[in-house]
Amino acid sequence: MSGSTIVPWVIGNWKMNPTRAASEQWTQEFKKILQQTSIKETKCRLAIAPIFIALSEINSQLQDSASPVNIVAQDVSRFAATGAYTGEISADLLTDYGIQYVLIGHSERRELLGDHAPVLADKLRLALKAGLTVIYCVGESLEQREQGIADAVVLQQICDIAAVVEDHQWQTQMIIAYEPIWAIGTGKTASAQDAQSMHEKIRAGLLQLTAHGANIAILYGGSVKPENAKELAACADINGALVGGASLNAHSFYQIADAFAQ
Ligand code: 13P
Repeated sequence: MSGSTIVPWVIGNWKMNPTRAASEQWTQEFKKILQQTSIKETKCRLAIAPIFIALSEINSQLQDSASPVNIVAQDVSRFAATGAYTGEISADLLTDYGIQYVLIGHSERRELLGDHAPVLADKLRLALKAGLTVIYCVGESLEQREQGIADAVVLQQICDIAAVVEDHQWQTQMIIAYEPIWAIGTGKTASAQDAQSMHEKIRAGLLQLTAHGANIAILYGGSVKPENAKELAACADINGALVGGASLNAHSFYQIADAFAQ
């Protein structure tokens, strides 16, 4: 457990998974686990990010769980409100459907789906304006780490959004997730020391950008699993986890959340 007063977040990013039957089984299993040992919202906040088409269904399936499980959209449109944008879902429509959280800037979207800095700035501006809380993802590639520019890359990704986020929004609507790309889905986790070292630099960067820098949760993502969650949770500036693969198993996800709740 860290000495910080920030309540940790453990968020499952389901990416383009799982089937409808498997997600229903997940929600049933997870609710059963929480009935036996709930996690207090004051100790650790829980959330999952399912595929768009399942957001409302899973939101209602989890309404009566013993600990609140928040629902996160995996992306949002760079276009506003409603209109002729086939295939898009705006921030306003997410809130209209009862969704309060959104992931922006995941490396898979940056690398595969054209989410470059100006696109991300548009998405972030609209999400914040609509009142969504944003989990904003940053992280360097293996090549950038090997070139010794990991810190510069990550801090630049944070600086890219400085002009978009108003001071009060840093306090209430922003969560940062540091996900080194080389650790995503590879089984390679950054060591707790390496992760903490980057989180410390992100914290210092945030403190320069906003008076609320000390209170912003910085989550770690990249092959987080029950086996390494405790060590990561013990780091002062690691305020939770953004979990991919391991979040698809209700028991593993619970164990990771429990590690951060201690
Ligand atoms: P894994 O936990 O599968 O490495 O994925 C991390 C991630 O990308 C979460 O957003």
